[in-house]
Amino acid sequence: MRTHLTTSPDEAASYIRRGRIVAFPTETVYGLGADARRVAAVRSIFDAKGRPSDNPLIVHIADPAQAAELAACIPPAARTLMDAFWPGPLTVILPKSDAVPSLVTAGLDTVGVRCPGHAVATAFLRSCQAPVAAPSANRSGRPSPTTWEAVREDLGGRIPCILKGGRTEAGLESTVVDCTEAVPVVLRPGAIPEEALADALPEIGVEPPGGDAAAKSPGTRHRHYAPRARVTLVAEPGEAVASADAAYIGLRAPDEPESFATVRIAPSVEAYAHDLFHFFRACDREEAAVICAQLVPEDGLGRALNDRLRRAAAG
Ligand code: TXA
Ligand code: MG
Repeated sequence: MRTHLTTSPDEAASYIRRGRIVAFPTETVYGLGADARRVAAVRSIFDAKGRPSDNPLIVHIADPAQAAELAACIPPAARTLMDAFWPGPLTVILPKSDAVPSLVTAGLDTVGVRCPGHAVATAFLRSCQAPVAAPSANRSGRPSPTTWEAVREDLGGRIPCILKGGRTEAGLESTVVDCTEAVPVVLRPGAIPEEALADALPEIGVEPPGGDAAAKSPGTRHRHYAPRARVTLVAEPGEAVASADAAYIGLRAPDEPESFATVRIAPSVEAYAHDLFHFFRACDREEAAVICAQLVPEDGLGRALNDRLRRAAAG
């Protein structure tokens, strides 16, 4: 299959309207979308990615009001979060309506809904005239794509169209909050830090790592975000072991930066998150054998960044 590249949201949306799949940019990472109501199109997403069918997809909408069609009901706490963070990198898990095929939700009676805060994504979604089911646009298990080139690297020849946008701003995925229980719970830390969620909704809870989240959010069970290189985590830059085929990424420099093949010092946790998956892919192209990555303080965006680092290292 030839993969067509376009910068036109309308042209990309015409593929969705014809029942085909398209990769598109958002503020977090690139997604691989299909009309959520068309089962055959949704099935092609799982095929193109090699995604396990027990892992549900997030449904993307252009306008917050569209959530009402996808959800059986919108609990007050969900409404509070949607009002506070949409459009933006928040995914809310809601009881699903009959409008959502069970293939999208991997058989769950809930649906993840997100209204991205990204001008190109919004123009595309609006032009699709449909809710768009979309996981990240990487081959299953690989780091999420933060550029259209990364999408092409993983899915070129396997999907009909990529909507080209710039490099994504956040660099890691949306925060997923389960709003189906009395107390909303963060299932996946992401681009919106828990502190910000708690400002809007003080009673919000957080799943402890290894807790119930794995059962509720099937995606967190799977191997994720992994480059081909082995990822080793260090608390302090001095612990990183240099070699000619090792790369290093962190907030502070390692002891002998010149002894690493590649070194990336991020000026902030935000910049580190923005760069992480991009760096992983660059390391793969340079055939690094090891990536030493510095863990960051466990607060704010640092929780989501450490989560991705730990998953990459667990591969
Ligand atoms: O930022 C993002 O969220 C990106 C962009 C493209 O929107 N999307 C993304 O999708 O990261 P994906 O499929 O790579 O990750 C979605 C996560 C998975 O862990 C999945 O299990 C979880 O959300 N999820 C989706 N629907 C769910 C549901 N109904 N209940 C629980 N977890 C759900
Ligand atoms: Mg993903």
